[in-house]
Amino acid sequence: MNILLVGSGGREHALAWKIKQSPLLTRLVCAPGNPGMAAIAETRDIKATEVVRQVALAKEIAADLVVIGPEVAVEAGLADALEAENIPCFGPSAAAGRLESSKAFTKAFCDRHHLPTSAYRICDDADTAKAALDHFAPPYVVKADGLAAGKGVVIAQDRAGAEAAIDDAFGGSFGAAGARVVIEEYLEGEIGSLFALCDGKASMLFGWAQDHKRAFDGDEGPNTGGMGTYSPAPVFTYDLVEQVRTRLVEPAFKGIAADGAPYRGALFVELMATRHGPKLVEFNARFGDPECQVLMLRLESDLVPYLIACATGRLNEMPEPKWRDEDAVCVVLATDGYPGPAKAGSVIRGLDRDFGPDVVVFHAGTSAGADGAILAGAGRALNVCATGEDLGQARERAYGAVALIDWPQGFHRTDIGWRALGR
Ligand code: GLY
Repeated sequence: MNILLVGSGGREHALAWKIKQSPLLTRLVCAPGNPGMAAIAETRDIKATEVVRQVALAKEIAADLVVIGPEVAVEAGLADALEAENIPCFGPSAAAGRLESSKAFTKAFCDRHHLPTSAYRICDDADTAKAALDHFAPPYVVKADGLAAGKGVVIAQDRAGAEAAIDDAFGGSFGAAGARVVIEEYLEGEIGSLFALCDGKASMLFGWAQDHKRAFDGDEGPNTGGMGTYSPAPVFTYDLVEQVRTRLVEPAFKGIAADGAPYRGALFVELMATRHGPKLVEFNARFGDPECQVLMLRLESDLVPYLIACATGRLNEMPEPKWRDEDAVCVVLATDGYPGPAKAGSVIRGLDRDFGPDVVVFHAGTSAGADGAILAGAGRALNVCATGEDLGQARERAYGAVALIDWPQGFHRTDIGWRALGR
């Protein structure tokens, strides 16, 4: 089987790593890929959003399956273009992907289909958004409506901070994504990330994890795309998982199909476990990054049959996935300054060290420099992941590997998994 994997981040490297282990695989091509992916698969220099070129590449390699990694390719309509060519695709249409690409759409969707989420106001200009703050108490949640690579959410402790975030959004900090803003009620509780697959009709849960969204230890600092994950996460009790399935996952798949856009691919439910049950924080129309990394380390089943089943409407024929009875941890290494302005191009050394059999280092935002040097981008650069008999051992192994990487211009959190270890 020939597979085209679209994307270039840590999530895609983890998917490539897992797909490579499938006995069904003949050829794996990643576009655009990254230096880590280039070490295990062919790569082609085509951006995830270059829909016409991606479709041409899928035809050129006679792809039996295209796997869409990032949300930008979903929004660009890659799945729609592949469907027009009868090429099986894991990843939703742009219409179904509005569950991620427009927060305002999703809030209205939740109202229409009775999904529990926070109270909100949608605002098309700064004055309206500032006035909307009157309806909420601090901390204030200000979100850009569109895709902003995990940077479009500000949680402001006071009104001045919220007003500054509103001015930033309408001032163009997030480009077109900030032309509309959603002001939300702040949800108290514990955050969780749950994944589900759907083939347009049938669906199944596909693992869960906990992310650390703030940049610094102790959940301090600005919101990021995610600084580290672990799985399994004890917040996901049997009851919580069932509530998320029945109140969020199944109504979402049913609702989006009723709206005329059946969902095919992975749905990422970011939720808050509150005193009143799970409430939706956000849907994402793809696997989480860096949640996917720990899921792939724990997934015992072959991933490829699940991807094909979603793409071809045969998910009802698939058994529940099997997970290793191990814990997995992912520590994100990012360039100093992230998620604000950061300087790309610093050299990362030490990646050729022997990290041991339970450690995998995924590339998230790197490029190849002269003489085989690995250069960091301006954001999240590496995902140092490990498994262990328990969370403590997995964490020790991951941080042991982090200590072997020589990158003075990078930073990471030192407390990944603190909620679970503190229980
Ligand atoms: N880890 C959060 C995200 O993928 O958006």
